Amino acid sequence: MKTPSSFQTDALIAEDIDAYLAAHQNKSLLRFITCGSVDDGKSTLIGRLLYDSKMIFEDQLAALESDSKRHGTQGQEIDFALLVDGLAAEREQGITIDVAYRFFATEKRKFIVADTPGHEQYTRNMVTGASTADLAVILIDARKGVLQQTRRHSYLVHLLGIRHVVLAVNKMDLVGYDRAVFDSIVEDYRAFASSIGITDFTAIPISGFKGDNITSAPSANTPWYDGPALIAHLETVEVDSVAAQEQGFRMPVQWVNRPNLDFRGFAGQIAAGVVRPGDAVRIVPSGKTSTVKAIATFGGDLAEAVAGQSVTIMLADEVDCSRGDMIASAGDPPQASDQFRATLVWMDEEALKPGRGYWLKLGTQTVTATIQPPEYEIDVNSLEHLAAKTLGLNGIGVAEFATDRPIAFEPYAANRQLGGFILIDKFTNATVAAGMIAFSLRRADNVHWQPTSITRDDHAGMKNQTPRVLWFTGLSGSGKSTIANAVEKQLFLMNRHTFLLDGDNVRHGLNRDLGFTETDRIENIRRVSEVARLMTDAGLIVLTAFISPFRAERQMVREMLPQGEFIEIFVDTPLEVAEGRDVKGLYKKARSGQLKNFTGIDSPYEAPENPEIRVNTVDMTPDEAARYIIEQILPLK
Ligand code: ADX
Repeated sequence: MKTPSSFQTDALIAEDIDAYLAAHQNKSLLRFITCGSVDDGKSTLIGRLLYDSKMIFEDQLAALESDSKRHGTQGQEIDFALLVDGLAAEREQGITIDVAYRFFATEKRKFIVADTPGHEQYTRNMVTGASTADLAVILIDARKGVLQQTRRHSYLVHLLGIRHVVLAVNKMDLVGYDRAVFDSIVEDYRAFASSIGITDFTAIPISGFKGDNITSAPSANTPWYDGPALIAHLETVEVDSVAAQEQGFRMPVQWVNRPNLDFRGFAGQIAAGVVRPGDAVRIVPSGKTSTVKAIATFGGDLAEAVAGQSVTIMLADEVDCSRGDMIASAGDPPQASDQFRATLVWMDEEALKPGRGYWLKLGTQTVTATIQPPEYEIDVNSLEHLAAKTLGLNGIGVAEFATDRPIAFEPYAANRQLGGFILIDKFTNATVAAGMIAFSLRRADNVHWQPTSITRDDHAGMKNQTPRVLWFTGLSGSGKSTIANAVEKQLFLMNRHTFLLDGDNVRHGLNRDLGFTETDRIENIRRVSEVARLMTDAGLIVLTAFISPFRAERQMVREMLPQGEFIEIFVDTPLEVAEGRDVKGLYKKARSGQLKNFTGIDSPYEAPENPEIRVNTVDMTPDEAARYIIEQILPLK
């Protein structure tokens, strides 16, 4: 299954369909999502929308007619569902498994519909499709009424900030177009919807199969219904980008266009508000101000640009501004912060690892974020809050997180584009979560970095050495502490200023609150890395001896330090040897089940792929290993 490429920008759509959109350039665009399952007739409805708007090409039509015959749909000339359930696998299984985007247009408007599967295991697909939608069509089978999945879909739609909800009560033909059935479903739904905060929705009795109230209302079969037909309604609801024009001006900078020295423009898509030449603007997070000199597009300069438009802005002054910054109205800029509370939807098979650094992408900003253990997880069916230590695939929860740099943002409820983000695994590059910022926990500008007069270089210079971290990693009992100790002794004799941080010792003090779960091990290494960095700031050569089983955290320490200062030393003693020695008797306990989460037994160890130095305690004694390490590091400047 494809992982969603991006939570905010559907590159997928943008590229494929540029030409199509150009043809309907002057029409507004409505993005919507359909929620329901195959049984509700979702694919049939979408097929009908495409068919009735004549957006089916000749060859597709021909294929459709022959497929319909082959599948033997009783009495029906064309099975519209076949048009939509395009994937062969889907046809066989009879379910829709991925997000498919379809495009169609009417006289008044153009549309992109995200067709996502309805089952709970496809929550992430639905979230992907919904994240950019202005409207959701929630399908109900008139014979079944409001189901658990209707509630789940509605909750997600509300969570994702979709302001317009259509309750499409489908298959009205199968209940004899009975008004009482329709009314009672609408009442049921209203009671539930208001309990989760959906205050307004439009209910339409339809038959996707027969075509009632799809394009032209009212259908002769529902004389009691005087509302709009589905298409008519879709043609008139206000799209989000129009609503966003009411807000303060914000444009995330996508790239800086500098073809020559006389021209410097900041290109991006306006996320909110309106901008005109002469407007005072502020760059966030830096806070620098300037004035808009001109707004350029391919078609020439503009007197005004609004939310949704892609433009290049020229400023009157030479201010620092690059990709990831936001240009905003000077009097009403967005906040910048580095600590937040957010709702997360987990989209990866591998569960959230609290404390681990993920790439966080919000608009054009990319930073490293670490997530706290969730405050709670939400059961999408009962909507109960459950205690949780992590979030698994399709899990939804509320958690706090911190970023390594302040980012400019708006709460998701105020602006989806500026408050929605994705998390990316740094190693696999997979999109692992989508998130919605609720609010910041502090304003970044309330916490300052205190400049000190004596610098890192001063400290190191006085000691006449280059600070380093010699990071020993390996299994328990592999010999890390023994070798690190021997290395420190030799460095000491060479008049080097050193300090050894050892796992067993640090766990008696600074980290005595931590155990051996993944989360605790990640936190163990995070704290040790901060201490090690402070010690290098003091000019020391730091030796650390921790199992540090995860690649991601070792990589994090490497990235925290200036290039060349992190030296990873893999004590590559095989498990059998470490276990055979079992100096502390812990392997025995682990094997007998008395000790849980023991590295190498029932907790993983991810060996370094390219350590700077590799030693072991099988082919060499600890002293030989130490001497070898000293030989390796001596030539370093
Ligand atoms: S780390 O995984 O978080 O880096 P650390 O190096 O601090 O571990 O601590 C490892 C030491 O704790 C081991 O050498 C061993 O003496 C002890 N220990 C106790 N329980 C465990 C366990 N479940 N897994 C590994 N080591 C354990």
